[in-house]
Amino acid sequence: MRYPSLSLFSLFFSVVSCYNIVDNFSGLTFFDDWDFYGNYDNLTLGDVVWLDEADAFTQQLALVNAAGNVIIKVDNFSNVPFNQKRNSMGPSWPAGGEIDIIEGINLDLNNQYALHTTPGCFHTTPPAQSGTSSMDDCSQPSGCLVGENTPNSYQSGFAAAGGGVWAAQFDYTGIFIWFWSRPNVPASITQSTATSSIDLSDWGPPSASYINSTCTIENFFGPQRMVIDITLCGEYAGLPDKYLETCAGHGPTGICYNDNVVGPGNNYDDAYFELTYVRAYTTAAPGATGVAALGTNTSGVDKTIQWRWSSMLVVLGGMIAGMIIM
Ligand SMILES: *[C@@H]1O[C@H](CO)[C@@H](O)[C@H](O)[C@H]1NC(C)=O
Ligand SMILES: *[C@@H]1O[C@H](CO)[C@@H](O)[C@H](O)[C@H]1NC(C)=O
Ligand SMILES: *[C@@H]1O[C@H](CO)[C@@H](O)[C@H](O)[C@H]1NC(C)=O
Ligand SMILES: *[C@@H]1O[C@H](CO)[C@@H](O)[C@H](O)[C@H]1NC(C)=O
Ligand SMILES: *[C@@H]1O[C@H](CO)[C@@H](O)[C@H](O)[C@H]1NC(C)=O
Repeated sequence: MRYPSLSLFSLFFSVVSCYNIVDNFSGLTFFDDWDFYGNYDNLTLGDVVWLDEADAFTQQLALVNAAGNVIIKVDNFSNVPFNQKRNSMGPSWPAGGEIDIIEGINLDLNNQYALHTTPGCFHTTPPAQSGTSSMDDCSQPSGCLVGENTPNSYQSGFAAAGGGVWAAQFDYTGIFIWFWSRPNVPASITQSTATSSIDLSDWGPPSASYINSTCTIENFFGPQRMVIDITLCGEYAGLPDKYLETCAGHGPTGICYNDNVVGPGNNYDDAYFELTYVRAYTTAAPGATGVAALGTNTSGVDKTIQWRWSSMLVVLGGMIAGMIIM
């Protein structure tokens, strides 16, 4: 549903619409507070080595470009022999529930959202959700899925539109995720700064709206970490049926690794994130330092935090990476 019932929308969001900034990451200091995985992908079994911090900078897979934006990319300059992995970037992994804000594989055209939990958390689609739900049990391997319907949320279309902005709200009332393509980013975001608070009242309905009626959020989600990574093939993008469905006809062997990882890297020229900033907000008082966690402590700074991801430019064209972002 593209236009929500206003009353229902207000029910969810009018209670708290103003958030204070609690953290921000951008430019040369972006990487200071992030961990680098420094190991091959033993999580989704992709054919990559996520470099440690020193190697990531030396090999220029983590850098800040002339525009001052952060680049996180796949090695597109090494010839990878058969049986070896390609270098990429991937900070560490969350536990205690997982919120997938940006996730796409191969030649998918649209982003998708997912929650991953232990059994007992279900997605009930409320009217105020613009995306399309496809799987409601968050404990299934795919997670509870919502597909983005706004055009240009992934791949070359995303880049051609100038990228866009994602925002995720993590709250007792639910988990809500928004996406705007560049031309539609609301004024509250375009006018925000690294020190200003933000008001959600011009945001419209979320793309994915996981309300708490069939998932008691604090029982399934512990403290969250933000993770940005690009992996190649592996147990999602590289599954034979997924690979053929999303990359059919684009490689000679029909096997993700052989077609894409082995050999020269020029098919990864456009496999990168370009981020202007990542900012975190909370309903706690200005100057609070919070962690993104919910708990029974309702007086602390941890109760509600909202992450806002901005100007994340993902260009995945040609023979592309399976990109998994948690
Ligand atoms: C934003 O980042 C800058 C530079 O890292 C830092 O000096 C400033 O305190 C940050 N602001 C907040 C609200 O975290
Ligand atoms: C992945 O490898 C790292 C480093 O060796 C290790 O600490 C971690 O436990 C491994 N994770 C899994 C899921 O195997
Ligand atoms: C669930 O969300 C509603 C608002 O939609 C809120 O009133 C209620 O307290 C929440 N329940 C829990 C258990 O947090
Ligand atoms: C790798 O890709 C970048 C663009 O992302 C391009 O500027 C660079 O020339 C490529 N490197 C090689 C060796 O092709
Ligand atoms: C609640 O959270 C605040 C801020 O994190 C902390 O200072 C306080 O000790 C916590 N209270 C309890 C009862 O855990």
